[in-house]
Amino acid sequence: MKIQTRILLLMVILLCLVVAGITANMFFFERQRLYRTASSRADIIIASIEFAIQESIRTSDEGILLGYLKHRMKVNPVIELAVVNFKGRTIAIGEPKSELYYRTIEVGESGEAITASGNAKPAASGAVSVELGFSKAVLEQLISQDHAALLSRLAAIGLAGLLLGIIGSWLISRKISGPIVTLAAAMRAAAEETASGRADGRGDEVQYLKAQYEAMSEKIRESAQFKEDLLLTLTHELNNPLAGIKGLLSVISDEKLRPGADKMRADCETMSSAVNIMELSLSNTLQMFRLKARPGLKIEEVVLNDLVDSVLRLMGPTAKMRGILVQREVPSDPVRIKGDQELLRRVVINLVSNACKYTPDGGVVRVRLDDSPDSVELSVSDNGVGIAPENREVLFTRFYRAADHGGKHERIPGSGLGLAIAKQAVDMYGGKIWVESEVGKGACFRVVLPKKRSAPAA
Ligand SMILES: Nc1ncnc2c1ncn2[C@@H]1O[C@H](COP(=O)(O)OP(=O)(O)O)[C@@H](O)[C@H]1O
Ligand SMILES: [Mg+2]
Repeated sequence: MKIQTRILLLMVILLCLVVAGITANMFFFERQRLYRTASSRADIIIASIEFAIQESIRTSDEGILLGYLKHRMKVNPVIELAVVNFKGRTIAIGEPKSELYYRTIEVGESGEAITASGNAKPAASGAVSVELGFSKAVLEQLISQDHAALLSRLAAIGLAGLLLGIIGSWLISRKISGPIVTLAAAMRAAAEETASGRADGRGDEVQYLKAQYEAMSEKIRESAQFKEDLLLTLTHELNNPLAGIKGLLSVISDEKLRPGADKMRADCETMSSAVNIMELSLSNTLQMFRLKARPGLKIEEVVLNDLVDSVLRLMGPTAKMRGILVQREVPSDPVRIKGDQELLRRVVINLVSNACKYTPDGGVVRVRLDDSPDSVELSVSDNGVGIAPENREVLFTRFYRAADHGGKHERIPGSGLGLAIAKQAVDMYGGKIWVESEVGKGACFRVVLPKKRSAPAA
């Protein structure tokens, strides 16, 4: 639910409670006032009857009282019965049609008046008394008529208050939620611009801001962690070949230790291979940064035969040094594909260098290229340590390295970046990369790239 709707709803509920409270109080006090008015109307009638009694006593003419009573009962149908006791004589006027409520007026010889209400009649000690029977039904009807008017008046006041309150609440809720809504809209627009977050504009702004904040913090944390991991791996990876080169250089530069020409050539090949390892680590790290910062493809025509050959030339010294036979099975016709030359080179280098790295000295590495009308397939196989089934998916994850490489893990340097880069690149082409392997017998990495990409590179 939107924040403005929530605030509005809350304020309207509060408002309803306040309006209901005020109306209930007004109703209660007005009701009391109605009853007081009804009772004072009866008091006026009684006072006028007292006066008529006093006149009748003064003139000793009961006709005055009886006439007045008849007139009063005619104009005031609420009095249904009047029982007059005039100096010992009892005369009843009217006929009770409903339950009655009695008031008795009694006037003594000297003109003093005593009145009593309810059904308790005063002791007939005075000279003249009149017992008035007020109809309960008529009284109730009069009060309920007043009640109805009162209720409609209160309903009108309550409704007007509610309406004004809702307008006020709407304005206040807009004022409170305005900045949050603006911020959420800006974040939503930003999220829609980036491929990472498609925003749903219908939700609650506070929840949305919270989710965006969490996503943002997670991204920052992840990015910081990524850089830290990359730097640590790179430092660690450069350290070993660098130490090797340093050691060999100190031997070569020392006249007393300097080896013969053959050994010197071998040492130079070792150094060159160490430089290759360092170069590979650096390029992988740079590529990782590039893919993270700008995940996109440069599209140019690439001849894969040439690309494979240049990688084999680069890996040649390392393979030779380790007595690894590299077999090249590449068609004689050029295998062309539209793609990012540097990224594709990274894929091939990483697969070939892995094949050499995880194959014991004297092993065989085979690089094969197959062309078809719709796609090209590159496969790099070796007869090395192989890959356990549980590792075949996960080793394409950044920084992942198998725990054991045929018991030689400690000796094989690596960053766990090569296959992650290869997978990311292949995914960008809409292609597929997977590995087939038999543990202890070798591994075969296959890459299939479609010649026509269905979706633009992202
Ligand atoms: N040809 C292969 N034979 C056996 N294991 C391999 C092979 N290629 C890759 N792996 C396994 O996959 C892991 C990840 O490879 P990669 O991402 O290139 O990282 P790195 O080579 O730096 O360790 C390696 O550590 C290794 O365990
Ligand atoms: Mg590797």
